[in-house]
Amino acid sequence: MKSQHRVWGLLLTAFAGAGVMLAVRPGAGDDAPAAPAKKAEVKDADPALSRTRKTVRMLDDIYKGAIVLITDKYVRDENDLPAGSAFKALFAAVKKKGWHEVRLVDATNDPIAPGNAPREGFEKAGIQQLLAGKDYYEQVETQPGKRVLHAVTAIPVVMKKCILCHPHYADAKPGQAIGALSYTIDIE
Ligand code: HEC
Repeated sequence: MKSQHRVWGLLLTAFAGAGVMLAVRPGAGDDAPAAPAKKAEVKDADPALSRTRKTVRMLDDIYKGAIVLITDKYVRDENDLPAGSAFKALFAAVKKKGWHEVRLVDATNDPIAPGNAPREGFEKAGIQQLLAGKDYYEQVETQPGKRVLHAVTAIPVVMKKCILCHPHYADAKPGQAIGALSYTIDIE
């Protein structure tokens, strides 16, 4: 998604640049092509989907930021409560309240808890994409009466401390996804 934004950014810059060039061509002859009447503007074809993607980006920053902060400040050895376990409890509470669903998922084929293996469908498809180097994957699903966004975001080994309890993360290349957060959220 990041690269998509970069492309839009480039396109917008190109449009803006073209506008300036047209504006400063007073000497152009009569046969010069007329300047476009309408200002170039990029319409958002699906504003609800854009809003939902933005919510996922916000949640992802908050959840991951908090997991790293807690691991950094509160987890000293393998006997301490892992941030991952604390957040699974939080995620269950968030789901129970009906906000959205979010799961901590393994990408190494060797999860500590078997229930954290990616599920058939968008999670497995997403993990495949993350292992191929992407940092985001999504699917939009139409359900009776509503649409939902399924999004999978990469978790790399962000700090050495992760290896304390996940020794096999030591084999991961820098930046490689070893896990993911998997979201299912209503598009509204
Ligand atoms: C104190 C030990 C500990 C530390 C430190 C730790 N984890 Fe975990 N992690 C666990 C445990 C235990 C689970 C299983 C939790 C459960 O499902 O109840 C887990 C689960 C996970 C999962 C889901 C897949 C699986 O193996 O079950 C991911 C992904 C993960 N941790 C990533 C990380 C990252 C990234 C870090 C560093 C920021 C980290 N962990 C630090 C203990 C730890």
